[in-house]
Amino acid sequence: MSARPSHTAPPPLVERVREASRRPKTLGGAVPDAISLAMGEPDSDTPKPVVEAAVRALRAGRTRYSPITGAPDLRQEIASHLARHGGMEVESANVVATHGGSAGLAAAVLALLNPGDRVLLPEPTYSLYADHVAMAGAKAEWVSTLPDGSLDLRKLAAAAPEARMLILCNPVNPTGMVFSKADVEGIGAILRDHPDLYLLSDEAYSDIVFDGIAFTSALTLTSVQDRVVIAGTFSKSYSMTGWRIGFVCAAADVTERINLVHRTINGPLSTFVQDAAVEALRIPDDDLRALSARFQRRRDLVMRHLDGLDAVSVVRPLGAFYAFPRVDSAFSSLELVRRLADGGVLVRAGSEFGPSGEGHVRLSFATDEASIEEGLLRFTRVIKGLQVRPS
Ligand SMILES: Cc1ncc(COP(=O)(O)O)c(C=O)c1O
Repeated sequence: MSARPSHTAPPPLVERVREASRRPKTLGGAVPDAISLAMGEPDSDTPKPVVEAAVRALRAGRTRYSPITGAPDLRQEIASHLARHGGMEVESANVVATHGGSAGLAAAVLALLNPGDRVLLPEPTYSLYADHVAMAGAKAEWVSTLPDGSLDLRKLAAAAPEARMLILCNPVNPTGMVFSKADVEGIGAILRDHPDLYLLSDEAYSDIVFDGIAFTSALTLTSVQDRVVIAGTFSKSYSMTGWRIGFVCAAADVTERINLVHRTINGPLSTFVQDAAVEALRIPDDDLRALSARFQRRRDLVMRHLDGLDAVSVVRPLGAFYAFPRVDSAFSSLELVRRLADGGVLVRAGSEFGPSGEGHVRLSFATDEASIEEGLLRFTRVIKGLQVRPS
């Protein structure tokens, strides 16, 4: 086909997303011999029993269309898993299996928002939400978190009148913050005060928490459960980024709306991938705890390097696999990323994650310890070589 540009103007949806998007044009750079601390992808392989389940399913001919809301046994397993971890009742009617967490988030946003609706984004936060909001023709409103990474509940309450949705990332990509029970309940109180407000809680990293702290899911907000949507994914807990499987959980009438949008875009999910996902949910909780322990050791390694740097301040990550240091320098996040890449280490610009991310970079520690060690040595060398802020 011709490589020449089309002469027809793109529809407004494309222009809106292009304009709103803070995400990099390409993921992963081609800098020779660079160490990448840029990707949000666990370095370990998908657990063997999960792979074996997919192979068994393929050999058994599980290659035909699956039911459009997700395979009934998978939906039931997800419901039981959420009920067991969140300590409340969840039924399969509350669950839609989705094409990764991303498609679940997109479908939830498109199913619940009207053009022009206001959407509150506590930030810094995962950069995909603003793109989804733009796709729906709604308006993102950034609400910065407090310096210690916790929610600014006063600012959120002040912004809540007339807002339609609040999108919470918990644990937070990019800061590694895990919001306290009080913060999650504070959001519940805001929802109680504003009966038109939905909460979309992206809990992609809920299995990766450190220092023995307990994760509080928004599922626990039972008094407003008709307006709470949880999005989850198999990508991070089970190293299944390439399998493309996730889910949303909400009140049955809300899941029905979300499913309608999801199926219209995606159709049904891969049958054998869903069989493998059922197997993933049978992985013992002890294995998930071991996963957290592994990332916690890496968090400690990262913090040992960052704590020794005068020009860097960072909130200690409590979950996920990211640190979000602020670098006190004369340079923007993008310029810092460029200089760090020249110094042989790839990271993401903090400005991708919202206005208050400017001056920060995101380091991922979802890679092996030797690479983290070498990456942080290079990071330190570049940061120490930067000119301090001109007076
Ligand atoms: C906070 C958060 N939510 C959702 C996703 C999407 O994950 P996936 O589409 O692979 O399930 C990611 C991936 O990086 C993420 O960081």
